[in-house]
Amino acid sequence: MAARVLTQVFNGLSLTATLDAALPDVASAKDRAFVQALTFGTLRQFHKLDFILAQLLEKPIKDQEIKALALSGLYQLAFMRVKSHAAVSETVAAVRTKTWAKPLLNGLLRNYLREQERLVAACQLDSGAATSHPKWLIHRIQHDWPEQAAQILAENNRQAPMVLRVNSRQTDRDRYLQLLADQGIAATAGGFSPSSIALENPVPVDKLPAFAEGWVSVQDGAAQLAAGLLDAQPGQRVLDVCAAPGGKTAHILETQPLLQELVAVDIDPQRMRRVDDNLQRLKLDAKRVVGDAAYPQSWWDGRAFDRILLDAPCSATGVIRRHPDIKLLRKPADIDALQAAQQAILEAIWPLLATGGRLLYATCSVLKQENERQVAGFLAVHAEAKTIPILADWGEARPLGRQILTGARDMDGFYYALLEKT
Ligand SMILES: C[S@@+](CC[C@H](N)C(=O)[O-])C[C@H]1O[C@@H](n2cnc3c(N)ncnc32)[C@H](O)[C@@H]1O
Repeated sequence: MAARVLTQVFNGLSLTATLDAALPDVASAKDRAFVQALTFGTLRQFHKLDFILAQLLEKPIKDQEIKALALSGLYQLAFMRVKSHAAVSETVAAVRTKTWAKPLLNGLLRNYLREQERLVAACQLDSGAATSHPKWLIHRIQHDWPEQAAQILAENNRQAPMVLRVNSRQTDRDRYLQLLADQGIAATAGGFSPSSIALENPVPVDKLPAFAEGWVSVQDGAAQLAAGLLDAQPGQRVLDVCAAPGGKTAHILETQPLLQELVAVDIDPQRMRRVDDNLQRLKLDAKRVVGDAAYPQSWWDGRAFDRILLDAPCSATGVIRRHPDIKLLRKPADIDALQAAQQAILEAIWPLLATGGRLLYATCSVLKQENERQVAGFLAVHAEAKTIPILADWGEARPLGRQILTGARDMDGFYYALLEKT
């Protein structure tokens, strides 16, 4: 099962979507946890394992499924507390019809065990293998953050904490912490948002008290900063473009119950259904629009907004620790394309903001091209736009906006800039 999931990721699908589809077919919770740990781990260490695999082979394995088995077998030997002979025999036994691959896998995994020390040392001499990242991304992160790059790359390979956001319309943080304690779930009030709770260990959401009743959501601490920065006031009209799956939409509604209206727009109808589900579970309401934020003429009614959140589509380089498949799926050319898309949306929605209104630009990227350089380019051609400094005790103060580097204070990598129309 793990090899099938990995093969689909090699073919361009996202790990989360592939696992969501595959896991219901795995009978026991223990096996589901194993498939999850093996796929996440193999992708986290993909560039290191692929380097080792190349050292062990005379010619590359063309068959993606067999390559996935080889990599997941190596992952078990190098990183998991699985007995070596069991890892080798299980990996070989997982080959069904392509019997030619059995001796190949058996031989290369046994060779790895024999040559482990030399191979691990060789990894240290190659930046991609040593950090388990594609080289283009290492260079971009080093270019943007020369002093912090090593730390960012290391954090990208660590498992992220599970963080909750308490729905302040249903309960409060102290009460919910007590409920967690009653269930034996270790947790602490955490982060810089007053509604945030950090769990000591991840827990399936259906084990969280009153999850189905909408008392709580799963959302990283960095993402929980958006609603506070937007600071929507009673009676205001708020636009949330690029809203799905609705984490920040819901948080804005939870923190400000007296809005005149919140309009949530997303281009993807399937993802918009997740906004519907989330708002329903949390007992919140917003006007939902499936539409292209870059072409508001097709959905805007002409009334200006006092607040706009643009949580832009981005490289997601700040959330690699949650989505290690990004290291394989993202390509260098994507960054220019994403920056152009962000710019087009920013230009298109700026006219929808009332004079004196505020727009919060956000990405879960650590690349300056999508963040402060994007905002600088916008300000250069909009004399009526100014940035409002974000004074906070989290993240790095930048000339424009504020950047959280991945893992700092245990948060995802995020960028925020607050613009005002003068
Ligand atoms: C970073 S995610 C948003 C996360 C969301 N704000 C939250 O907190 O749950 C970016 C979203 O932008 C949407 N998107 C991408 N291009 C778009 C466009 N041109 N117009 C509207 N939405 C777009 C994607 O479908 C995706 O749901």
